[in-house]
Amino acid sequence: MSKLAVVVLAAGEGTRMKSKTPKVLHEIAGMPMLGHVLATAHSLGADHVITVLRHEKSLIEEYVLTHFPRTLIAEQDEVPGTGRAVEAALESLPSGFDGNVLILSGDVPLLNVESISELLEIHRDLGNAGTLISTVLEDPSGYGRIVRSREDFIGIVEQKDATEEQRAIQEVNAGVYVFDFKLLKSSLGKVGLNNAQGEKYLTDVAGLLLEAGSKVSAHPISDKWLVTGVNDRAQLSEVAAELNARIVRGWQLAGVTVREPHSTWIDITVSLGADAQIEPSTRLHGLTRIGAGAVVGPDTTLVDVEVGENARVVRTHADSSRIAAGANVGPFSYLRPGTELGADGKIGAFVETKNAKIGAGSKVPHLSYVGDAQIGEQSNIGAGTIFANYDGEKKHRTEIGSGVRTGSANVFVAPIKIGDGAYTAAGTVVRKDVEPGDLALNPKPQQNLAGWVIERRPGSVSAELAKKKLEK
Ligand code: UD1
Ligand code: MG
Repeated sequence: MSKLAVVVLAAGEGTRMKSKTPKVLHEIAGMPMLGHVLATAHSLGADHVITVLRHEKSLIEEYVLTHFPRTLIAEQDEVPGTGRAVEAALESLPSGFDGNVLILSGDVPLLNVESISELLEIHRDLGNAGTLISTVLEDPSGYGRIVRSREDFIGIVEQKDATEEQRAIQEVNAGVYVFDFKLLKSSLGKVGLNNAQGEKYLTDVAGLLLEAGSKVSAHPISDKWLVTGVNDRAQLSEVAAELNARIVRGWQLAGVTVREPHSTWIDITVSLGADAQIEPSTRLHGLTRIGAGAVVGPDTTLVDVEVGENARVVRTHADSSRIAAGANVGPFSYLRPGTELGADGKIGAFVETKNAKIGAGSKVPHLSYVGDAQIGEQSNIGAGTIFANYDGEKKHRTEIGSGVRTGSANVFVAPIKIGDGAYTAAGTVVRKDVEPGDLALNPKPQQNLAGWVIERRPGSVSAELAKKKLEK
């Protein structure tokens, strides 16, 4: 089998995005477009994968080398155009390379391995010098058009260079090609910049090869989404929605209930267990993993969150947290990074947690802030409790044992420790450690100052009503 090099084009400026972020780093389904293309490129088992960069090179290079370290980076010079980009890529191939060069665009993110394998197969079977994918679009504007004479492919003309008649052609170039390395290289040497955009077009190679008597063919595929290019943010959202719809459907067919696909967003990196149930307006991002039988949503956003089997997470925002099996979270909970809730535990309404490990069966049911804390098992934190972790300069830890019952409206002034089985009374400001089994309460008894309101707020509604009552 001849060798294969894959070239991913990502050096363009992406001016139509009107963005500080390079076009190919804009994300769909939680991954930059370029990431989708590189993932596909690397799964083909090619001998070399090269990406061509220029615009915002260092930013894109950092992404590529972090996530796809086996990628070679080529740099395009100031000569613009996809043809020049490919020339730069070919230069970075080891000398003596021979075989096929597959060219993918960093802005065509949905193309899949199956369509590429088919393209390579057709290319080899027909003994072509070049083979490309096309598709027929209702609205072909912006794309290069596939020009045919009768059935035969005779070249590609870019939108800006096309005649009125050519612009009516609905079969478009997908920007995905395979070429014989040597013929590609020699043809690129002959491509000029004499066109409407003053660029060195890769697309001109097709015509040049045909003129030289080599075989080139274009093969339409029917699923236009696979070859849809993203050039502006309207297309970005359309392609993102389509990919999301496919991801959601994939999980539905794998045995996950997704109540309302159009309001559910699932990144390509997320995984879900059998019989998980995803309620409307839920977004699952990053490395989120949902266990079997868990119920998530409605109105929930999870970023890098692990949800255990049969847990329930309702109207919650959570980031970098772990929720164990059978636990309950929400509604209206905010789990910040480092939250770990044990099996069958609870984080309830209007509770914010951060860097907090809450043991199995423990509960923080209402209106509380738990930051920089460890809570043992089977403990209950009273309503309206604040873990005061910040002294204005440093953060401190609170450690609460197992089987603890704390009263409502407590403040734990960290650093502080509460022993196993201890209790605290309602309204306690806990400033001293509490030993196992002790009850903590603030010693100063309540004082009632007799007649204070009548004396200090004379004439007020309170004073008048109090007087009336006392006169009876
Ligand atoms: C290109 C094709 C067009 C095709 C369309 C499919 C050419 C001349 N035109 O047009 O026929 O229908 O893709 O989506 O190839 N790039 C570089 N260096 C450059 C310019 C672009 O690396 O100098 C990269 C871009 O980063 C991008 C890809 O090549 O990933 C395509 O560039 P873009 O400017 O989007 O080309 P289109 O106008 O979409
Ligand atoms: Mg494009």
